[in-house]
Amino acid sequence: MVKRQFPNPKDVFEYVQLKKPSFGGKERRLQDALTIADLRLIAKRRTPKAAFDYTDGAAEGELSILRARQAFEDIEFHPDILRPAEDVDTSTQILGGPSAMPFGIAPTGFTRLMQTEGETAGAGAAGAAGIPFTLSTLGTTSIEDVKAANPHGRNWFQLYVLRDREVSYGLVKRAAEAGFDTLHFTVDTPVAGNRMRDYRNGFSIPPQLTVKTVLDTLPRPWWWFDFLTTPKLEFASLKSTGGTVGDLIGQAMDPTISYEDLATIREMWPGKIVIKGVQNVPDAVKLIDLGVDGIVLSNHGGRQLDRAPIPFHLLPKVVREVGKDATVMIDTGIMNGADIVASVALGAKFTLIGRAYLYGLMAGGRAGVDRTIAILRSEIERTMKLLGVSSLEELEPRHVTQLTRVAPVSVAYGEAAEALAKAQPVRTPRATAASKPAAPKAPAKPRAKSAAAKTAAKPGTTPLEAAEQTSDTVGAAEEGLTPGR
Ligand SMILES: Cc1cc2nc3c(=O)[nH]c(=O)nc-3n(C[C@H](O)[C@H](O)[C@H](O)COP(=O)(O)O)c2cc1C
Repeated sequence: MVKRQFPNPKDVFEYVQLKKPSFGGKERRLQDALTIADLRLIAKRRTPKAAFDYTDGAAEGELSILRARQAFEDIEFHPDILRPAEDVDTSTQILGGPSAMPFGIAPTGFTRLMQTEGETAGAGAAGAAGIPFTLSTLGTTSIEDVKAANPHGRNWFQLYVLRDREVSYGLVKRAAEAGFDTLHFTVDTPVAGNRMRDYRNGFSIPPQLTVKTVLDTLPRPWWWFDFLTTPKLEFASLKSTGGTVGDLIGQAMDPTISYEDLATIREMWPGKIVIKGVQNVPDAVKLIDLGVDGIVLSNHGGRQLDRAPIPFHLLPKVVREVGKDATVMIDTGIMNGADIVASVALGAKFTLIGRAYLYGLMAGGRAGVDRTIAILRSEIERTMKLLGVSSLEELEPRHVTQLTRVAPVSVAYGEAAEALAKAQPVRTPRATAASKPAAPKAPAKPRAKSAAAKTAAKPGTTPLEAAEQTSDTVGAAEEGLTPGR
């Protein structure tokens, strides 16, 4: 028999701790975002569809990005116990300088399209957090303005070798003069990737006012207000070169770039040089043998070749061949600090975040990018503590294995995940866990053939369609997980 007492008003008062009301809408919105996926949802609400889809989307069936994210989700961590890790040191040395955390901001083109503060917000937030910021050739803030936004931090410049080589050489010179310390030479864009969402949305750069875009704007007037009342959206470092925006994009993708260009650029660039977009072991070995300062294993966030190799899977193979002293970096699909920790454990010296940064930017400008960095920082620190390591050097390949997937992929982020969430209404249990202890769960019965498997079996079905047509995908995928290397 439970002994009962009359409630003591003092105790009740202690339990009811009223939260201080917060009147800053943006601040509250951002504090409520606990994950990058939460920031993505806020970003989606606040950004016109065409601009959001340009950022969120990828090429063709979007398989490269879905698989890259899936690979990170399929990590299995192996912690050590009873190892003091009260304080963790997340700092590292990368390309001749410090970084407070093992990630930096990836180059993204047309950033002010997503939110008007654009690269200024990214560079400022990166500088404040002590991590590097990378400006794209197709950036919408000039080299000099990025330097002004991040005067004491590390700025990196990403180079597209344009058809008009002199224009590229001019940018290299300007970036060097502005004190940028590293050049990322992007090599995975001989032609533009085929981004279906952009076609379907009738997306154009710069955005055009059509009946469709105006209707889409109605619930997001602040975006157009920002767009129309701030400096013109243009490729800031290239504006003096003339040509329309379309001409410049056409110029950026040059199928004739080659190792000769690499040699020329190396001659001109006084700082560190990194090749971004490496996608196989022989290329990685060749580049390290040629003496480049680093490589980024990347498929451009799935925006170029669809069904490209998953960088996270490529990582251990490349590290094994080029040796652990070579500077191997990785991007594509990073949505959680744990993804970054796993990458470091498997030998990456550094990582880059593209969309995770842009979701924060769209969710709340500079404060949103600060929030992205804060979320990733806490996830990195917590994962390290839970693994029982207190510095990045202590992370080893033995800390991570990869579950081998033998069933259709589940999709935890993005459009497909939203479709799944809609298809699976949340059921409220009749009895609470406290009042009715749950019976031990029987092992899941193997399904004869799940709806997901059936859908995926149809030729020509994309994962997105599969997820939209069935609510069974995640369950089926979970059943298909087996531990492996
Ligand atoms: C909207 C957008 C624009 C991008 N623009 C560029 C670019 O101009 N140059 C470049 O080298 N990479 C560009 N990227 C690729 C990123 O640098 C990075 O490789 C990719 O975003 C990493 O994947 P993640 O978005 O999953 O983190 C872009 C990516 C996005 C999402």
